Amino acid sequence: MIIPYGRQSIGADDIAAVEAVLRSDRLTQGPKVEEFEQALAEYCGARFAVVTSSGTSALHTAYAAVGLSAGDEIISSPITFPATTNAALWQGAKPVFVDVESKTGNINVDLIKASITSKTKAIVPVDYTGRPVNLAAIKKLAQQHNLVVIEDACQALGATYHGKKIGSISDLTVFSFHPVKSITTGEGGAVLTDNENWYKKMKMFVTHGVTKAPDNLTISSPGAWYFEMQLLGNNYRLTDLQAALGISQLKKLDQFVARRRELVTRYSAALADQAAIVTPPADSTSEESAWHLYVIQLQGKLSGQRAEMFKKLQESGVGVQVHHMLSYYHPYYQKLGYLRGACPRAEAWYESIISLPLYPDLTLADQDYVIKTVKDFAESLQK
Ligand SMILES: Cc1ncc(COP(=O)(O)O)c(C=O)c1O
Repeated sequence: MIIPYGRQSIGADDIAAVEAVLRSDRLTQGPKVEEFEQALAEYCGARFAVVTSSGTSALHTAYAAVGLSAGDEIISSPITFPATTNAALWQGAKPVFVDVESKTGNINVDLIKASITSKTKAIVPVDYTGRPVNLAAIKKLAQQHNLVVIEDACQALGATYHGKKIGSISDLTVFSFHPVKSITTGEGGAVLTDNENWYKKMKMFVTHGVTKAPDNLTISSPGAWYFEMQLLGNNYRLTDLQAALGISQLKKLDQFVARRRELVTRYSAALADQAAIVTPPADSTSEESAWHLYVIQLQGKLSGQRAEMFKKLQESGVGVQVHHMLSYYHPYYQKLGYLRGACPRAEAWYESIISLPLYPDLTLADQDYVIKTVKDFAESLQK
């Protein structure tokens, strides 16, 4: 049996919540969706939440809401899942990649300004591994240049920034509920905002761009069957089955994050004596990570050993991963003309990292095995 790098935590309460929907009349487009949206908005301290079929469709929904289109640029980080910028490509916009900080792997805010042009529409910072980016500095820059901040917090539900929950700070915040994330709905995502205009657009966008609400119609309704398609939307709906799971999971979010934090503290303490391993920075009073991932950096005698270490750990039943290869390394982006060498720190970051297993149900015995396997590999190498 392999210990995975991440996995869901599902209890009898979650199963009962889904079963109740299965026995009800509405599997989709029922009451659970709005209940989940309200619970999410309340948890994060935002006015509105729109749930979607995935984090990817949530990103697309947010980009569409702000009118991102051909000729526009967005500024983001290359250390992320490619969906962050793919969704901008669908809108015809151009992603511009800015390098990362060496300590956290998050976007280097000091470098953003030089990439802002007259075409820039939005800054899309990624809370990589669940750790909030420097939102105060990013918001200030965005205000100075009249840009929208769309925070890709797919990895950061449950994190806090200066005591405020992620989801309540940026113009729009995007979450994912994939099974390895803070909470799961199987697949799923959400966009949070305080802006009512964007909220209304997003509610329509996720369901074909249609509306039935009498106040929104262009003519007075001829009958109860009548609806209007007013914008080009999609079917990005989350089902009621998934929303019920989300509501149940959300109740346990703080508990999940606390458990992740406990495991992180154990990892960092156990690996502190390894000169060739850089452990991630601990939480501070300004930033508390959701600890989606525990990413270590290899240095010294472990430099250049990542592939060998990855293989060895996998063979030993430790399901390590690498998060993330740079988005612009993918052939699709290379064909678009993005050049290697553009973000040297991000490129060095990618070469040196490995993610160790981290999820709420990881047992201490399994974690001890991971630690021992990592240390055995490091100690097997000559100085
Ligand atoms: C930073 C980031 N952005 C976007 C996504 C896409 O989310 P999803 O897999 O729910 O579509 C993910 C998840 O893989 C992610 O980690």
